[in-house]
Amino acid sequence: MQPKSVRITGWGMYAPERRLTNADLERVVDTSDEWIVQRTGIRERRIAAANETTATLSAIAGKRAIAVAGLAPDDIDVILVATLTPDYWMPSTGALVKEAIGNTTAAAMDVMAACSGFVYAYTSADAYLRAGTFRHALVIGAETLSRFLDFSDRSTCILFGDGAGAVVLSASDEEGGGMAGLELTTDPDGAYMIWLPSGGARSPVSGQTLARGEHFVRMEGKETYRYATKTLASSALKAIERAGWQPDEIDLFIPHQANVRIIESVAKGLGLPMEKMFVNVDRYGNTSAASVGIALAEAVDEGRIKVGDKVVLVAFGAGLTSGAIALEWTADPAAGARAASVEPVASVREPQDWSSVDPIPDRLRHVLEGGPPVPLDDVVPGEPEHASPRKVPA
Ligand code: ACO
Repeated sequence: MQPKSVRITGWGMYAPERRLTNADLERVVDTSDEWIVQRTGIRERRIAAANETTATLSAIAGKRAIAVAGLAPDDIDVILVATLTPDYWMPSTGALVKEAIGNTTAAAMDVMAACSGFVYAYTSADAYLRAGTFRHALVIGAETLSRFLDFSDRSTCILFGDGAGAVVLSASDEEGGGMAGLELTTDPDGAYMIWLPSGGARSPVSGQTLARGEHFVRMEGKETYRYATKTLASSALKAIERAGWQPDEIDLFIPHQANVRIIESVAKGLGLPMEKMFVNVDRYGNTSAASVGIALAEAVDEGRIKVGDKVVLVAFGAGLTSGAIALEWTADPAAGARAASVEPVASVREPQDWSSVDPIPDRLRHVLEGGPPVPLDDVVPGEPEHASPRKVPA
């Protein structure tokens, strides 16, 4: 049976304990706290410990969201994990998370739309629920980006961090609330502005790809910046318009946390004060698919969102993708306190007779262990190889 509405009933987040500050990064790349703060607003980011993965971060955030919703793990019918840093190419991270949260009944899968992943996964779950297919969905955005960064490339390694954010969406028999307007776009013109060259079918991992550092994130920062400022504003406006609202009616924007300058320029473009923009990029950096989920959970728990508020979630990312959801908040923010009952531990099934290698990149481990500064003439900047469209023989 189709519900009258689909609403957020639970929210939660988890960020690893270990903080990596700008001063820490000064010891491996030619950068400074001042440059990073001025150009990005980032002061520190979190780094997953060796025994943490995207699945473990997801499971903790997911269990917190389920506790806040007042549900049991088996009440969840479908689990969507948005990530560009899955534990493995297969099985899906969603499958591992299902077991780790103690669920025995749900369908589970991953969603890949880079930093827009949380918004894409939310809208997919919302569609299942609106159709009457399922009653409760767990939507998680989670990343362990620190495993995919070149800590000799100052243009990328300073930007990203690890973490997870989650919501439970529930079908409701009450009218109103939840998603009122939506916009999703995908623009392959910028497909290689942010990319990870090897590991896929086009360029499977080999000694050659490893030697070329193709297993790390590459990015053309300036072009991405330009795209982001344009698309975040236009996506948010479309979603607001489809909800039948005006931008100045919005109580809080939860933008993807990539760079505070991008968020400031979106606020300016929409003619809104920065107080309407939630910002936590200073503490987490860019956590890609996790960023909107973490920001939403923090915003509710900090009292920035109350029942009846109009909220816009908006993101952009590799693809290039973008997405915005205009929604009306219906859940009691006080329920967020229930997340405290969930310990920050998760047990994810390990492969049998298999011991995985140490997952932390060498240069990152060096900083984490407080090693001496790396001589900067040892640093080989990760120069992206420019991509040209592949010619397919006729
Ligand atoms: N420390 C010090 N100097 C640096 C650093 C650093 N960490 N990084 C770059 N520089 C230098 C550059 O080499 C350049 O020097 P030059 O003028 O001598 O050539 C100078 O600083 C200016 O570099 P720009 O790239 O022009 O700096 P900009 O102001 O554009 O800031 C930044 C760079 C922060 C990357 C910005 O472009 C940005 O935020 N872009 C968007 C990135 C983004 O959001 N990516 C995530 C996408 S989401 C996803 O799906 C993964």
